[in-house]
Amino acid sequence: EKNCYILGIESSCDDTAAAVINNGVVLSNVVATQQIHEEYGGVVPELASRAHQQNIVPVVHQALRKANIDKKQLSAIAFTRGPGLMGSLLVGTSFSKSLAMGLGIPLIDVNHMQAHILAHFIKVEEQNTPNFPFLALTISGGHTQIVKVTDYFDMEIIGQTIDDAVGEAFDKSAKILGLPYPGGPLIDKYAQQGDPKKFKFTKPKVQPMDFSFSGLKTAVLYFVEKEVDKNADFISENIEDICASLQFTIVDYLMDKLKNAVKHTGITEIAIGGGVSANSGIRNALKEAETKYGWTTHIPKFEYCTDNAAMIAIVGELKYKQQRFAKNDVLAQARMKL
Ligand code: KG4
Ligand code: ZN
Repeated sequence: EKNCYILGIESSCDDTAAAVINNGVVLSNVVATQQIHEEYGGVVPELASRAHQQNIVPVVHQALRKANIDKKQLSAIAFTRGPGLMGSLLVGTSFSKSLAMGLGIPLIDVNHMQAHILAHFIKVEEQNTPNFPFLALTISGGHTQIVKVTDYFDMEIIGQTIDDAVGEAFDKSAKILGLPYPGGPLIDKYAQQGDPKKFKFTKPKVQPMDFSFSGLKTAVLYFVEKEVDKNADFISENIEDICASLQFTIVDYLMDKLKNAVKHTGITEIAIGGGVSANSGIRNALKEAETKYGWTTHIPKFEYCTDNAAMIAIVGELKYKQQRFAKNDVLAQARMKL
């Protein structure tokens, strides 16, 4: 079908998002980020679902308006089924079911983690889509995984975190440093002005392709407490160097794991996804790896890294072409396999 318009809806965590895609090209990509969680230092599930309910209709309206299409032109509705916060998922799921029913068009369920990976198939000028098989490093506030991607819907997790996600390591360390939530982007900002070799943090030891981040957070806490005892202004005087050193450790650790995965699989085509792939350190390290190790790397545009609905819509389109529709009684799923 030539003119296939898919509306994607994302509500798995604290971003209410809607996007329209047409033959791999994003026509609109709207995100309403919820500010309310900032004062609590993390996402409050109850408040997230309320905000989704408030935002979802305006966000969808805006996505249709920006795409300059009428809802009657839509071919299907794709929505995030899971994984995520149940109360948040329920809003997007119920809304999508109703809209698909009202318009009399198919409903397509999308796995959020698959979507972070398949976001690479959104058509972007001057960017090549990955070739199968490739390795995907998905790094977000909730997940840290290395996935072997053999085909669009043939994926296997070959390594993952045994405790915290890498985004949590960024956010929790930022909290210790007195930075507001979510602290990942702020650590990145300060890191760019600091000395990455100034302070040493040890990299946690686990299986070659697995990750652990809970120890790092504790190491940051002890380190900061010890230094602040000696000098009350230690943090403010050294924020750039602390952030640079911490980011250096995390990026180095992620790269170690990727190198192990390349060695294990023989695959040198690498794609990153998830909120933390917005990080300048990992983006630079990957670019370097192209010349250093001969890898082919795929780094998404910023707006397709963090939670967005364009990635849900592209999966919707891929499934639509294969006629893989959801059943009427499909349920949101907080925990969901890849
Ligand atoms: O994918 P995402 O938007 O939501 C989840 O599904 O978790 O990822 C959000 C995470 C947060 O932990 C945030 O601090 C982190 O991504 N993040 C960053 C950067 N931008 C976002 N971490 C480090 N550096 C960044 N530039
Ligand atoms: Zn995500």
